[in-house]
Amino acid sequence: MTAPTNANQGAEDALGFVHRWMPREGATRTLLLLHGTGGDEEDLIPLGDMLDPTANLLSPRGKVSEQGMARFFRRLAEGVFDLEDLRLRTTELADFVDAAARHYGFDAAGVTAVGFSNGANIAASVLLLRPATLRSAILLRAMVPLVPDSPPALAGAQVFIAAGEHDPIIPPSNSERLATMLREYGADVALEWMPVGHQLTRDDVDAARDWLRAE
Ligand code: MLT
Repeated sequence: MTAPTNANQGAEDALGFVHRWMPREGATRTLLLLHGTGGDEEDLIPLGDMLDPTANLLSPRGKVSEQGMARFFRRLAEGVFDLEDLRLRTTELADFVDAAARHYGFDAAGVTAVGFSNGANIAASVLLLRPATLRSAILLRAMVPLVPDSPPALAGAQVFIAAGEHDPIIPPSNSERLATMLREYGADVALEWMPVGHQLTRDDVDAARDWLRAE
Protein backbone atom coordinates (compact mmCIF):
# COMPACT_ATOMS: atom_id res chain seq x y z
CA MET A 1 0.00 0.00 0.00
CA THR A 2 1.39 3.45 -0.87
CA ALA A 3 1.54 6.07 1.87
CA PRO A 4 -0.84 9.05 1.57
CA THR A 5 0.86 12.04 -0.13
CA ASN A 6 -1.09 14.58 1.89
CA ALA A 7 -3.27 14.64 4.96
CA ASN A 8 -6.45 14.74 2.89
CA GLN A 9 -5.43 12.04 0.40
CA GLY A 10 -7.71 9.36 1.84
CA ALA A 11 -10.77 11.58 1.66
CA GLU A 12 -9.86 12.70 -1.86
CA ASP A 13 -9.55 9.10 -3.01
CA ALA A 14 -12.90 8.22 -1.40
CA LEU A 15 -14.79 11.28 -2.61
CA GLY A 16 -13.27 11.64 -6.07
CA PHE A 17 -12.40 15.37 -5.99
CA VAL A 18 -9.30 17.19 -4.81
CA HIS A 19 -10.80 19.47 -2.18
CA ARG A 20 -10.43 21.48 1.02
CA TRP A 21 -12.65 20.71 3.99
CA MET A 22 -12.74 23.20 6.85
CA PRO A 23 -15.15 22.13 9.60
CA ARG A 24 -16.45 24.64 12.13
CA GLU A 25 -17.60 23.67 15.60
CA GLY A 26 -21.42 23.71 15.82
CA ALA A 27 -21.89 24.79 12.19
CA THR A 28 -25.44 24.56 10.86
CA ARG A 29 -24.45 25.46 7.31
CA THR A 30 -21.87 24.19 4.84
CA LEU A 31 -20.70 26.52 2.07
CA LEU A 32 -19.86 24.63 -1.12
CA LEU A 33 -17.23 26.87 -2.74
CA LEU A 34 -16.94 26.61 -6.53
CA HIS A 35 -14.11 28.53 -8.18
CA GLY A 36 -13.93 30.13 -11.62
CA THR A 37 -11.93 28.96 -14.65
CA GLY A 38 -8.23 28.66 -13.79
CA GLY A 39 -8.87 28.66 -10.05
CA ASP A 40 -8.53 25.92 -7.50
CA GLU A 41 -9.83 24.76 -4.13
CA GLU A 42 -7.96 27.54 -2.28
CA ASP A 43 -9.42 30.46 -4.24
CA LEU A 44 -12.74 31.04 -2.51
CA ILE A 45 -11.74 30.12 1.06
CA PRO A 46 -11.30 33.82 2.02
CA LEU A 47 -14.67 34.60 0.41
CA GLY A 48 -16.32 31.77 2.37
CA ASP A 49 -14.83 33.18 5.59
CA MET A 50 -16.16 36.64 4.76
CA LEU A 51 -19.64 35.36 3.89
CA ASP A 52 -20.13 33.21 7.00
CA PRO A 53 -17.25 32.60 9.42
CA THR A 54 -19.39 30.10 11.35
CA ALA A 55 -20.06 27.77 8.37
CA ASN A 56 -18.18 24.63 7.35
CA LEU A 57 -16.32 25.14 4.07
CA LEU A 58 -16.19 22.45 1.38
CA SER A 59 -14.16 23.49 -1.64
CA PRO A 60 -13.57 21.06 -4.53
CA ARG A 61 -11.29 21.67 -7.51
CA GLY A 62 -12.92 21.34 -10.94
CA LYS A 63 -11.77 18.20 -12.72
CA VAL A 64 -11.70 19.49 -16.28
CA SER A 65 -8.49 21.03 -17.58
CA GLU A 66 -8.64 23.66 -20.31
CA GLN A 67 -5.04 24.23 -21.32
CA GLY A 68 -4.03 23.64 -17.73
CA MET A 69 -6.83 25.76 -16.23
CA ALA A 70 -9.18 23.89 -13.91
CA ARG A 71 -12.91 24.10 -14.68
CA PHE A 72 -16.04 22.27 -13.56
CA PHE A 73 -17.14 21.23 -17.08
CA ARG A 74 -15.99 21.43 -20.69
CA ARG A 75 -16.88 24.26 -23.03
CA LEU A 76 -16.70 24.45 -26.79
CA ALA A 77 -16.12 28.23 -26.83
CA GLU A 78 -16.65 31.18 -24.48
CA GLY A 79 -20.21 30.78 -23.19
CA VAL A 80 -20.88 27.70 -25.38
CA PHE A 81 -21.01 24.62 -23.20
CA ASP A 82 -20.50 20.92 -23.89
CA LEU A 83 -23.92 19.93 -22.57
CA GLU A 84 -23.20 16.21 -22.35
CA ASP A 85 -20.14 16.89 -20.22
CA LEU A 86 -22.02 19.48 -18.17
CA ARG A 87 -24.73 16.95 -17.28
CA LEU A 88 -22.17 14.33 -16.33
CA ARG A 89 -20.08 16.75 -14.25
CA THR A 90 -23.19 18.09 -12.52
CA THR A 91 -24.15 14.58 -11.41
CA GLU A 92 -20.56 13.94 -10.33
CA LEU A 93 -20.47 17.12 -8.23
CA ALA A 94 -23.86 16.48 -6.62
CA ASP A 95 -22.77 12.92 -5.77
CA PHE A 96 -19.56 14.35 -4.25
CA VAL A 97 -21.59 16.65 -1.98
CA ASP A 98 -23.79 13.74 -0.82
CA ALA A 99 -20.76 11.53 -0.20
CA ALA A 100 -18.88 14.34 1.59
CA ALA A 101 -21.87 14.88 3.91
CA ARG A 102 -21.71 11.21 4.91
CA HIS A 103 -17.91 11.15 5.11
CA TYR A 104 -17.49 14.34 7.17
CA GLY A 105 -20.83 14.14 8.98
CA PHE A 106 -22.32 17.50 8.02
CA ASP A 107 -26.03 18.10 7.42
CA ALA A 108 -26.76 17.45 3.73
CA ALA A 109 -29.88 19.62 4.06
CA GLY A 110 -27.82 22.68 4.99
CA VAL A 111 -25.64 23.20 1.92
CA THR A 112 -25.30 26.63 0.29
CA ALA A 113 -23.37 26.78 -2.97
CA VAL A 114 -21.17 29.83 -3.52
CA GLY A 115 -19.96 29.92 -7.11
CA PHE A 116 -18.06 32.43 -9.20
CA SER A 117 -18.25 32.41 -13.02
CA ASN A 118 -17.69 28.79 -14.14
CA GLY A 119 -18.35 27.73 -10.53
CA ALA A 120 -21.60 29.73 -10.51
CA ASN A 121 -22.63 28.06 -13.76
CA ILE A 122 -22.20 24.55 -12.39
CA ALA A 123 -23.99 25.59 -9.20
CA ALA A 124 -26.92 26.76 -11.37
CA SER A 125 -26.76 23.43 -13.19
CA VAL A 126 -26.94 21.55 -9.87
CA LEU A 127 -30.06 23.59 -9.00
CA LEU A 128 -31.62 22.65 -12.33
CA LEU A 129 -30.64 18.96 -12.45
CA ARG A 130 -30.16 17.92 -8.80
CA PRO A 131 -32.22 20.45 -6.83
CA ALA A 132 -32.26 18.43 -3.59
CA THR A 133 -28.49 18.90 -3.24
CA LEU A 134 -28.70 22.59 -2.31
CA ARG A 135 -30.68 24.54 0.24
CA SER A 136 -29.54 27.78 -1.31
CA ALA A 137 -27.06 29.26 -3.74
CA ILE A 138 -25.05 32.43 -4.25
CA LEU A 139 -24.37 32.77 -7.96
CA LEU A 140 -21.74 35.38 -8.75
CA ARG A 141 -21.66 36.14 -12.51
CA ALA A 142 -23.76 33.15 -13.60
CA MET A 143 -25.49 32.42 -16.90
CA VAL A 144 -28.14 29.88 -17.98
CA PRO A 145 -26.08 26.67 -18.09
CA LEU A 146 -28.72 24.46 -19.74
CA VAL A 147 -32.46 23.93 -20.03
CA PRO A 148 -33.56 20.89 -18.01
CA ASP A 149 -35.71 18.19 -19.66
CA SER A 150 -38.16 18.22 -16.77
CA PRO A 151 -38.94 21.03 -14.30
CA PRO A 152 -36.84 20.77 -11.13
CA ALA A 153 -38.61 21.06 -7.76
CA LEU A 154 -37.09 24.29 -6.47
CA ALA A 155 -39.85 25.40 -4.09
CA GLY A 156 -38.13 26.55 -0.90
CA ALA A 157 -34.72 27.06 -2.56
CA GLN A 158 -33.20 30.51 -1.97
CA VAL A 159 -30.99 31.95 -4.70
CA PHE A 160 -28.94 35.16 -4.82
CA ILE A 161 -27.60 36.22 -8.21
CA ALA A 162 -25.09 39.07 -8.54
CA ALA A 163 -24.74 40.15 -12.16
CA GLY A 164 -22.39 42.73 -13.71
CA GLU A 165 -24.10 45.47 -15.73
CA HIS A 166 -21.07 45.63 -18.04
CA ASP A 167 -20.11 41.95 -18.01
CA PRO A 168 -18.39 41.22 -21.36
CA ILE A 169 -19.10 37.46 -20.99
CA ILE A 170 -22.71 37.41 -19.80
CA PRO A 171 -25.32 39.63 -21.51
CA PRO A 172 -27.81 41.16 -19.02
CA SER A 173 -30.66 39.33 -20.79
CA ASN A 174 -29.01 36.00 -19.92
CA SER A 175 -28.81 36.84 -16.19
CA GLU A 176 -32.48 37.91 -16.32
CA ARG A 177 -33.36 34.66 -18.06
CA LEU A 178 -31.63 32.61 -15.38
CA ALA A 179 -33.52 34.45 -12.63
CA THR A 180 -36.85 34.02 -14.45
CA MET A 181 -36.22 30.33 -15.08
CA LEU A 182 -35.34 29.59 -11.44
CA ARG A 183 -38.40 31.55 -10.26
CA GLU A 184 -40.65 29.59 -12.62
CA TYR A 185 -39.40 26.39 -10.99
CA GLY A 186 -40.31 27.74 -7.55
CA ALA A 187 -37.07 29.24 -6.22
CA ASP A 188 -37.04 32.49 -4.30
CA VAL A 189 -34.56 34.56 -6.34
CA ALA A 190 -32.87 37.87 -5.57
CA LEU A 191 -31.15 39.37 -8.61
CA GLU A 192 -28.78 42.21 -7.84
CA TRP A 193 -27.01 44.35 -10.45
CA MET A 194 -23.48 45.61 -9.91
CA PRO A 195 -22.18 48.57 -11.99
CA VAL A 196 -19.11 46.56 -13.07
CA GLY A 197 -17.96 43.76 -15.41
CA HIS A 198 -17.19 40.08 -14.75
CA GLN A 199 -14.80 40.59 -11.83
CA LEU A 200 -16.06 40.54 -8.26
CA THR A 201 -15.99 43.64 -6.10
CA ARG A 202 -16.33 44.36 -2.40
CA ASP A 203 -19.97 45.32 -3.11
CA ASP A 204 -20.64 41.77 -4.35
CA VAL A 205 -19.26 40.32 -1.15
CA ASP A 206 -21.21 42.73 1.06
CA ALA A 207 -24.48 42.14 -0.81
CA ALA A 208 -24.05 38.35 -0.73
CA ARG A 209 -23.17 38.39 2.97
CA ASP A 210 -26.23 40.52 3.83
CA TRP A 211 -28.44 38.22 1.78
CA LEU A 212 -27.00 35.12 3.48
CA ARG A 213 -27.54 36.58 6.95
CA ALA A 214 -31.22 37.13 6.14
CA GLU A 215 -31.69 33.71 4.49
C1 MLT B 1 -17.99 29.36 -18.36
O1 MLT B 1 -17.32 28.84 -19.23
O2 MLT B 1 -18.46 28.74 -17.41
C2 MLT B 1 -18.23 30.82 -18.49
O3 MLT B 1 -17.94 31.25 -19.77
C3 MLT B 1 -17.46 31.61 -17.50
C4 MLT B 1 -15.99 31.38 -17.64
O4 MLT B 1 -15.49 30.45 -17.06
O5 MLT B 1 -15.33 32.16 -18.31
